[in-house]
Amino acid sequence: MTENQTFDISLNLNVRGMPLSATLQINELSNKLKEEGKIIYKMGLGQSPFPVPQVVVEELRSNAFQKDYLEVKGLKPLREAVADYHSRRNDIQRRADYVLIGPGSKELMFLLQFVYYGELVIPTPSWVSYAPQAKIIGRQLAWIKTKEENKWRLLPEELHKICDKDHYKPRIVILNYPSNPTGATYTCEELQELADVARRFRVILLSDEIYGELNFKGNHCSIARFYPEGTIISGGLSKWCGAGGWRLGTFTFPKSLSSLLNGMAAVASETFTSTSSPIQYAAIKAFSGGIEIERYLWSARKILSALGTKIHNILSAGGIEAPEPDGAFYLFINFGNYADKLRSKEIYNSLDLTTRLLNETGVALLPGSVFGRPEEEYTARLSYVDFDGSRALAAAEILQPEETITEEFLSTYCSHLLEGTNKIVRWLNSL
Ligand SMILES: Cc1ncc(COP(=O)(O)O)c(C=O)c1O
Repeated sequence: MTENQTFDISLNLNVRGMPLSATLQINELSNKLKEEGKIIYKMGLGQSPFPVPQVVVEELRSNAFQKDYLEVKGLKPLREAVADYHSRRNDIQRRADYVLIGPGSKELMFLLQFVYYGELVIPTPSWVSYAPQAKIIGRQLAWIKTKEENKWRLLPEELHKICDKDHYKPRIVILNYPSNPTGATYTCEELQELADVARRFRVILLSDEIYGELNFKGNHCSIARFYPEGTIISGGLSKWCGAGGWRLGTFTFPKSLSSLLNGMAAVASETFTSTSSPIQYAAIKAFSGGIEIERYLWSARKILSALGTKIHNILSAGGIEAPEPDGAFYLFINFGNYADKLRSKEIYNSLDLTTRLLNETGVALLPGSVFGRPEEEYTARLSYVDFDGSRALAAAEILQPEETITEEFLSTYCSHLLEGTNKIVRWLNSL
């Protein structure tokens, strides 16, 4: 048999018909158009624009020699640093014994769903990978409705409604804030109300706080403060530390859920063994904080906040709805005001919209449907990371504490992004 002969295994594939993740798909299409010479505004991919803080890079460099497999749950000093971090930042007391380190929080989420036999409950819109993971493992999935006027956030009464259908059903509820894809977050009071419902129905709450440090006001509050016994905090280096490709994620459990941690560690021991050693050593520095990390975060938040507001304003002036973000680097856009025009141009759903927009203007967005919104709804996620984060950060770091990011700053360092946003408005008006 030669390499070119057909070898039909399609019927035996476990993940039959499952496509590549939508985020990666749009990135590949953008790259292809770029290679063809088109100017592309990469507003589809959710990767931090900023470099890894220099002190963390140096730590990685000096630990490049670390070569041994590490404990499945993770390097003890790193687990201590993570536990310490939660106590310092969020006033949540957790022991290093109940921290699990993995190659990205995405992998840990998969393990959690694998190990716990429960229905997955997520608000719509939600990050692209929660639902496909449930599908791969064969778990039931329940989407909870949200409303745009509430910044697409989960309301306690909606969570109550779903849980009330069957009090005894085992469930994992994922709450992500600041949110991908909306940038919205919750106040401590709102989290307290959600926590009350979660406790009443004894759900396992996965609090995805991967963007917690990118809360623009730097005052991220964790729901684990209000429902400690049932909340697992998910975090990692990917977003606030600009180290997505390093692949390091953390799950921090309460003692009451240690059986889940042990189950996940058992599966980890038979699959990825342990997370890369040099990365774990370097991560100790990142979670330990210090003046360099604080300065980095302060500047990153300042830039992202100004940029989020600016893009929101450009869109609003063009009659496009998108709640102003509280954190992260996303806006969730509703093009509903243009529905008639879009239909008249044979654009019938969010995928048609983003594909036509990409082909006709070079602006890449992700369709709302991949976040669990109805296909025919004209929504999309705009991610504002297509700028040189190193340059912008260097310029922001020399600003005085009272100085704000000006229009001039944004046009100097983020002009491509602003041009892409203006293109969206012009395209809609030209339909
Ligand atoms: C909301 C959310 N959670 C989790 C992840 C996974 O991050 P990682 O696997 O890099 O830790 C991402 C990455 O895009 C995300 O946006």
